[in-house]
This record gives sequence, C-alpha cells and structure tokens, in this order.
Amino acid sequence: MPTTVTVLSQKGGTGKTTTVRNLADVFGRVGMEVLCVDLDPQGNLSDYFDVPADANPTIADVLAGRERAVDAVHDGVLPANLGLAEAELILSGKMGRELTLRRGLRDLKRRYDLILIDCPPALGLLTVNGLVAADHALISTEAQYFSLQGVEQALEVIELAKENLQPDLEWLGVVLNIADLRTVHSREALEQLKERFGEKVFSTPIRQSIRYAESAERGVAMLDYRPELGEDYLGLAEEMLERLGLSEERAKVAAMRSEPATA
Ligand SMILES: Nc1ncnc2c1ncn2[C@@H]1O[C@H](COP(=O)(O)OP(=O)(O)OP(=O)(O)O)[C@@H](O)[C@H]1O
Ligand SMILES: [Mg+2]
Repeated sequence: MPTTVTVLSQKGGTGKTTTVRNLADVFGRVGMEVLCVDLDPQGNLSDYFDVPADANPTIADVLAGRERAVDAVHDGVLPANLGLAEAELILSGKMGRELTLRRGLRDLKRRYDLILIDCPPALGLLTVNGLVAADHALISTEAQYFSLQGVEQALEVIELAKENLQPDLEWLGVVLNIADLRTVHSREALEQLKERFGEKVFSTPIRQSIRYAESAERGVAMLDYRPELGEDYLGLAEEMLERLGLSEERAKVAAMRSEPATA
C-alpha cells in the first residue's frame, strides 16, 4: 500500500499547496509514482499542476459517489474546483462522512507509491477526510507569533482523527514554511517551534521567495524554475523519506542534493 501524507494547517496561506506541488515533483524525480489530491475548493493545486479548469470529473464527484477515483485522475492529480464546496455540504449530512475520501481512494491505492493530499485552510470536514484517508499528517506553518497556536490546533484535530477514525494515523512533523530567517521574528518563531515540538520540526525550513508565486503562475515546479531555491524541497523530501522509512528513495534524493544546482 502506498504511503499517504496529508498536508494541513489551520491558517490559510501557510504554503500547503506549494509544498504538495514541489514534494510531488521531488518524489517523482526519484522514480516514485505519485498521486496528488486537491481537497480545496479553491483548486490552487490543480492550477499549479496546470490541470484545465474545466477538467471533469473531479474530487467532488468522487466524494459525492458519482464517479470512481480512477476516472477522475488527470495527469497524476485528482483535481478540485468550486464544486467541491457543494460536495462538502452534501457530504456533511451523510453517514460515514469522515470516511468518504478513504473509501473513494481505496481502489486507486495499488497504482501509486505515494499519495499527497492538499487540504483547505480550515480544520473542517474536508481536512478530516484528508486525515482519515492518510497514514501520515504533515503540518505546515508560517513563522508568525501565532504559529504555535495554529500548530496546536492542527495537532488536536490529528489526535481526534487518530482516536476516533484512523488509529494508524501518525504525525510526521511540522515544516516552517515561507520563512525569512534574516528577520529576528522568524528566527524566534523557529526557536519556539523547536522548544515546543523538538525533533518533530523539520530541520529544513522553506525559505521565502517571490519566485514561488511566479512558479505557481507558470505551473512549473521550483526545481525547474529556480533550482537553487528548489533545494529546500529536496532537503524536506529527504527528511520526510527518512521518517517514512523509505531509505532507497531517501538515498536517491541525497544524491540529487549533492549535485550542483543548475538553472
Ligand atoms: N516559500 C515561499 N516563499 C514565498 N511565497 C510562497 C512560498 N511558498 C508559497 N508561497 C506563496 O504564498 C502564497 C500561499 O501559498 P500556498 O497557496 O502554497 O499556501 P496554502 O497554505 O496552500 O494556502 P491556502 O490556505 O489558501 O490553501 C501563494 O501565493 C504562494 O505562491
Ligand atoms: Mg492551498
């Protein structure tokens, strides 16, 4: 069975979508078959992958039970659009509503080595579906004074999902995202995170750069757009593979990191 990692945060704009897009790129480079699931009605991940806006069916159809997941995959992405907001509403009135994504992905699992799920900026039903469908949760946080609180809240939801719905769910860790470590403020936020969560904080922060917005606009992963910045995601991917116990793939990422970056 593939490893399934859900990326979540309580707050909006913490870099979740960018993280899923760029991790998928790194894992693909080391030969893994990766599926990305867009669980956000904003559809940002689908855009970043250049999935056409009118792609059909979407994850909304899978959650509504109208389509099989296998028929809704477009170039390695289960896309979303605003229709997902309606699907969420309908879902909220159904029995087993938290298990819908897990069930929907079941048939697909054999085809992939890794599934990455991108959540909307809220800890509601869609994010809970994302967690229940996963075996690992990755929290993304910005370097802000309130980031500790946001991480605590996301952890509570992970804990609830684990206790009630998915006992195998594990917290993979927290990544400091969109970090400007030249500022005292960001460095303090990182220190606070480390004090509170210790080893769970990934040693590789993702540095802040305007290039990310550009890469999203162009629909190009960072390692293609600005390799010297994309290296952050190589570091994060390597740490993740280590924690996931995927040593062969980890070694391949490590080898990529030792090659000089070229644009
Ligand atoms: N490392 C970075 N440096 C600077 N900007 C970034 C970085 N990563 C992402 N961004 C930009 O910050 C914005 C938010 O990023 P992203 O969409 O990945 O966050 P998100 O957590 O998925 O947001 P939402 O909660 O709305 O889904 C985007 O414009 C993105 O291009
Ligand atoms: Mg997003």
